[in-house]
Formats: sequence, C-alpha cells, structure tokens
Amino acid sequence: MGKNPAELIQASGADNNVRPVGSRRDFLKAGILAASGIIAAAAAWPLARLAMRKTPWTPPVFVDAVMLADMPEVGVKMVDLSLTKGGRPDARVFVKRTPDGSIIALSAVCSHLGCIVNYDRLKDQFVCPCHGGRYDGNGKNISGPPPAPLARLPVRIAGAYIQVGIRRPPV
Ligand code: FES
Repeated sequence: MGKNPAELIQASGADNNVRPVGSRRDFLKAGILAASGIIAAAAAWPLARLAMRKTPWTPPVFVDAVMLADMPEVGVKMVDLSLTKGGRPDARVFVKRTPDGSIIALSAVCSHLGCIVNYDRLKDQFVCPCHGGRYDGNGKNISGPPPAPLARLPVRIAGAYIQVGIRRPPV
C-alpha cells in the first residue's frame, strides 16, 4: 500500500519545516504586508500633496486683525479675516505675543488634512481635534501626523491695528 505525501517526506529525511503552499501563515503575512503598504501610502499622501501643490504665488494682502490695545500680554487671539470688508472669512488665524514681546500670526489650518486647530492655553500648544496632531506655542509640529508647522503669516502694525497678510486661496 502507498504512503501518503507527509509520510514520504518524513521517510526521506526532508526538512520537517516544509509547509504546504498557501498556508494560513502565508496568507496572514501577505495580509499584514498589504495593510502595511496601505498605511504607509496613507501617511505619505499629505506630504505628496504638499509637494505637488502648484498654487501661483501672490503677494499677501494685509487686513486689520486685532486692535493693538486689545492684544493680551499673554496668550493668543483667534480671528477670522476677510479680504473683502464684511465678506465671508478667508482665513482663520492666531495672533500671538511671544515672550520677547514681538507679535506673530499663525494659520489655524492643520498641516495634515486641513482641520482647524485649537489653542491649549495651559500647555501653550495648538491641538488638532481631527487626529490629535500637536504644535508648540510657535506653531512647530511636535507630535502626531502633521508633516509641517502651522503656516506663519506676515504681520505689521498699521496705526492702531495689528494687520496680518493673507492670500487667496484661503490660508
Ligand atoms: S487634520 Fe489630521 S492631525 Fe490635523
């Protein structure tokens, strides 16, 4: 009577680690590899999008953001800015006085997928509600998926106002 294939392998002294092709382990390995590839592609997509962006450069238009007298010594002011007086907002920005007394403006748009970040006053950090990205008080990305800092916008003082330079399309 003939032996079955497993008995033949045993009898020939062949490697006991030989597994049949298409085992469950191979299937799981292929699945994990495919899932890893999809995750890597999803993580790289925002960077690729930034690299491919072909927005023509236009000079910023300075608009009144905050009255100098209303600017707090510590903390930030979040303001919506419009290129047309009374029009719908074109940009949401944080205006902030730094410890050395200078004033900066940061776009509130997360560099990951464009959600609007919030300011955590206790930690002096900007936090994105969408995927938990965090930026330090100067807008530098410090944890989570954001691939770049918050955009720093030009600032100038004009009369009684702090003005921030914005562009179309919205920053
Ligand atoms: S949109 Fe993803 S972390 Fe902000």
